[in-house]
Amino acid sequence: MSGFVLAIDQGTTSTRAIVFDGARKVVGVGQKEFAQHFPQDGWVEHDPEEIWQSVVSTIKTAFSEARVTASDVAAIGITNQRETVVIWDRATGEPIHNAIVWQDRRTASTCAALRQEGHEALFTERTGLLLDPYFSGTKVKWLLDNVEGARARAEKGELAFGTIDTFLVWRLTGGKVHATDATNAARTLMFDIARNAWDDELLTLLAVPRAILPEVKDCAGDYGVTELFGAPIPILGVAGDQHAATIGQACFDPGMVKSTYGTGCFAVLNTGKDMVRSQNRLLTTIAYRLDGKTTYALEGSIFIAGAAVQWIRDGLKLVRQASETGPLARSADPSQHVYMVPAFVGLGAPWWDAEARGAIFGITRNTGPAEIARAALEAVCYQTRDLLEAMRKDWTASSTDTVLRVDGGMVASDWTMQFLADLLDAPVDRPTILETTALGAAWLAGMKAGVWPGMDEFAAGWARDRRFEPAMDAAERDAKVAGWNDAVQRTLTRRA
Ligand code: G3P
Repeated sequence: MSGFVLAIDQGTTSTRAIVFDGARKVVGVGQKEFAQHFPQDGWVEHDPEEIWQSVVSTIKTAFSEARVTASDVAAIGITNQRETVVIWDRATGEPIHNAIVWQDRRTASTCAALRQEGHEALFTERTGLLLDPYFSGTKVKWLLDNVEGARARAEKGELAFGTIDTFLVWRLTGGKVHATDATNAARTLMFDIARNAWDDELLTLLAVPRAILPEVKDCAGDYGVTELFGAPIPILGVAGDQHAATIGQACFDPGMVKSTYGTGCFAVLNTGKDMVRSQNRLLTTIAYRLDGKTTYALEGSIFIAGAAVQWIRDGLKLVRQASETGPLARSADPSQHVYMVPAFVGLGAPWWDAEARGAIFGITRNTGPAEIARAALEAVCYQTRDLLEAMRKDWTASSTDTVLRVDGGMVASDWTMQFLADLLDAPVDRPTILETTALGAAWLAGMKAGVWPGMDEFAAGWARDRRFEPAMDAAERDAKVAGWNDAVQRTLTRRA
């Protein structure tokens, strides 16, 4: 059997299908952006049909670019934007509403009410998460409460819930398989990450009937077969995108940490068999589950990273292409101290302030596009620093010799990566393969199919493109960080 593996990377703003050959080289790519719907302030939706169409068309593009047909492909791995919720009719496969996206804040009041009733500790103990509208559970409740007839139909077993992975598996298998993997389940607020099972007590608090939930499997497992592309292809891997990136970065040992710069930025620290409980409002989550064995992680989630660059390009129109942002930032006046806190959809870790909105501080009459662009890129680095500081406090084992492995669109900017290393006062490693998320999903599937190597050989193949060493002196770093901390405090609605 050939070693070709297809990865489907269904992200927040675009869908990508990537064919890898047996040497783990990218040989075909299909990519399609799709519409973002903002029906009200703080609401974000996707059309699941448009997502599905984008998956089908990008697979066809990737196959044709790679000059393969379905019969050449040993397996499919799926990775996806996490927490985004779809509910559909089991009989017709039709969604009952648009998907509610992870960034959506409409359930902030539900979370606040559950918090006021004193339930947060229980949710955190069972799921490792916090009560924030980011996670799936309150979104599922909103759909059942607000789509006419949905609750009654859900209770009768007529509806199915899934994150995007589950929806795609359902569609690819023609409705034969209703399943998710442990990493996606771990982001729903309904899954007990210690027992690896849906939690009835939490389901009751969220008023979500068990009948709509998918089966939870290992990340490398049997997710059925798709017959839609001319020959049967088994789906053998599923993982949420940040978990797939952790795998793609070969962060398999406790203490290894990666940070991915996509729409948002997500830092994941492998803590091995230990479920480390954060004292600093990070998340405890499942890094991956293989052969029934769970590896845990601490995660810091920042909602806006690449999205700030997108705003510089599409909203402010300061650049025509995202790649122009780095050079523009480099040309900024070093004597100006402009800070942007990109709380466009609230602030995530470690602040968790759903009501906060973005702010820019320190503007003078000399401030122009270059200073704004620099502030946007720097904000991503300051936030990464906040996450890594919190990780160091939570898990002392991570305090020594931390090297951050980075990936995602923004890491192409040398300027940004150098600033990141300077702020962290630690080395930053950029791998040669930047398609880390897709590679992680492909490895799950290829390894399960027996056409790709096991974990150790795969990890040995990880290669560095460049290491960024810290070069900023401590006084300058401290002054910059103090300015950032002040800007964040002025942006929060609940002052720390
Ligand atoms: O938790 C949300 C995350 O999975 C989205 O990832 O790459 O679309 O920013 P991305």
